[in-house]
Amino acid sequence: ARCDLLVVGSANADLVIGVERRPAAGETVLGSDVRVHPGGKGANQAVAAARLGARTALLARVGDDGHGRLLLDSLRSAGASTAAVLVGGAPTGVALITVDPDGDNSIVVSPGANARLTPGDVREAADLIGAARVVSAQLEIPLETVGELVRHLPGGSRFVLNPSPPAALPAEILSACDPLVLNEHEARFVLGADGRAGADANGQAGAAGANTGGAGDRSGTAPEDRARALLELGPRSVVITLGARGALVADSRDDTCVHITSPRVEAVDTTGAGDAFTAALAWRLGRGDSLPDAARYAVRVGAAAVTAPGAQESFPTPEEVAAL
Ligand code: RIB
Ligand code: NA
Repeated sequence: ARCDLLVVGSANADLVIGVERRPAAGETVLGSDVRVHPGGKGANQAVAAARLGARTALLARVGDDGHGRLLLDSLRSAGASTAAVLVGGAPTGVALITVDPDGDNSIVVSPGANARLTPGDVREAADLIGAARVVSAQLEIPLETVGELVRHLPGGSRFVLNPSPPAALPAEILSACDPLVLNEHEARFVLGADGRAGADANGQAGAAGANTGGAGDRSGTAPEDRARALLELGPRSVVITLGARGALVADSRDDTCVHITSPRVEAVDTTGAGDAFTAALAWRLGRGDSLPDAARYAVRVGAAAVTAPGAQESFPTPEEVAAL
């Protein structure tokens, strides 16, 4: 049977501490008891889609350790296939997360085994990739692994990329995206508008240099201008997520830019809400929804996810989406 959604990406144990406010450099603050949740942008997407009823598989790597088993259990209980979750080579990835009283988070990720998901692993999964209706990826795995993935996409499939954390994207990857899904922070980075000219944390030339010849801020100020500027980099469509304000979808095929509003919810923990949004969007696109229709469904999935703590445990069933 074809797979509705193949997610290629990370799996992390999320170590979460609630804080009144985040510490500044050199400062110490006390927080809540630590909670350990299954997370990682790839595993989050796979769990979100599987819980919605999609036939979902994850290509990822975890360590041979307790965190890895936590992630495998979470994927299996959501109904996602773990046949392509490779085990060993390094400890499972860990995300250190602080959540403030508004439900907003800050995250530091130690990639661990995610960094060992190689282009060779992608080649060995060629059959799985060839059987997928939609393939999605994020950037908590090596960029060359994502590059190899786009070379193996089957004809007629769709590729969805969330460039998070943001990095300089080669044209080969950008032009495969349909859509590129990113938040405003990531959009500014990809457009080189964050005052750092797209330089990444290692000080290498970043997205602006790679994609726009270092043209500086070409993004304008409105999200609509950013979406159109992003389309010029090569993706066939772009989705900018706007948190509580919903999402903006832009399509180069019909030159449209549509704002999708989100239902109002009480935010408890936004961790993983973007992953749930992206997974729902990807799955619905594979079922033939238009981009705006898929985004209308996906904002409801993302909204439901912010109403409960943690990432994967907070992702809704179809009934919970309908009840919103
Ligand atoms: O997008 C949220 C995720 O980012 C968390 O689950 C954490 O693991 C980091 O990867
Ligand atoms: Na949540």
